[in-house]
Amino acid sequence: MADLSVNICGIDFKNPIIPASGVFGYGREYEEFYSLSELGGIATKGTTRTKRTGNSAPRIAETPAGMLNSVGLQNPGIDYFIQHELPNLMTKNTVILANIAGSTPEECAEVARKLDATDVHMIELNISCPNVKQGGAAFGTSCQMAEQVTAAVRKAAKKPLIVKLSPNVTSITEIAKSVEAAGADAVSLINTLLGMRIDIHTRRPVLRNNVGGLSGAGIFPVAVRMVWQTANAVNIPVIGMGGVTSGEDAIELMMAGASAVQVGMAVFTDPYAPVKIIRQMNDFLDENKISSVREIIGTVQPW
Ligand SMILES: Cc1cc2nc3c(=O)[nH]c(=O)nc-3n(C[C@H](O)[C@H](O)[C@H](O)COP(=O)(O)O)c2cc1C
Repeated sequence: MADLSVNICGIDFKNPIIPASGVFGYGREYEEFYSLSELGGIATKGTTRTKRTGNSAPRIAETPAGMLNSVGLQNPGIDYFIQHELPNLMTKNTVILANIAGSTPEECAEVARKLDATDVHMIELNISCPNVKQGGAAFGTSCQMAEQVTAAVRKAAKKPLIVKLSPNVTSITEIAKSVEAAGADAVSLINTLLGMRIDIHTRRPVLRNNVGGLSGAGIFPVAVRMVWQTANAVNIPVIGMGGVTSGEDAIELMMAGASAVQVGMAVFTDPYAPVKIIRQMNDFLDENKISSVREIIGTVQPW
């Protein structure tokens, strides 16, 4: 058995595989299939200051190698999360990453402040949501907004802070450097890519929200490229995700520079995907006589 453990921002993970935010809820449904303690960590559904019902249906559309979603930030709000979901998660012997979001820097900071008073291991700040104070553009699409929201959350919380970047930008490295300068302890990427489908018979967009986020195997090469560029641009750990469906994919993202890997919509087609991926990573390492997964991080040799 290879050593699969990694350490990110001083937190020990028994392996680098973490179900991504929004696809795993709070783990309850998946616990029927396997023990959550097998996972390196769990990123919880994005939590906001108050309860949100999300966008109107239809809000899911299949695509040839993935799916589009416009679920929005449907969640019960931070107080409910802390009272009713977090205590159960904290008993699962795995690292808990509380994913948070908000419409203003102040809202994100308030959510982070409440989490800072809990036992949660890490905070993952989703900056792909609209900043209502700046015309609804996502925080993560400008260095200035990304820096502002990161700094506000940094001030509000001492827990290790991961900033989750949006891929819908011209230069991912500029955004990554901005959040690093504003106090992020790590970055995670990629969130979904903005997409759209149209029903040609009704001439209506398939999603009620018109546009949505593309996830799944089809976005994997974009994730590899952005993780590689980001890992070369910042001095903080990078957590990679986007279209991972196998242990080989996870190994590839780590060679690109990721210190851990999140698994998103792959769990919709196979709830066992994260545990299978952990096993497949171990098999690759054993077959190649690599004793620790840490040895492969960032080892791609570019031409
Ligand atoms: C249905 C759905 C809901 C999601 N909700 C969130 C969320 O609340 N917060 C967040 O940061 N990312 C959210 N994401 C993005 C995923 O965490 C992940 O970044 C993205 O799907 C790319 O990974 P994948 O291709 O492996 O799914 C969501 C994705 C999906 C498919």
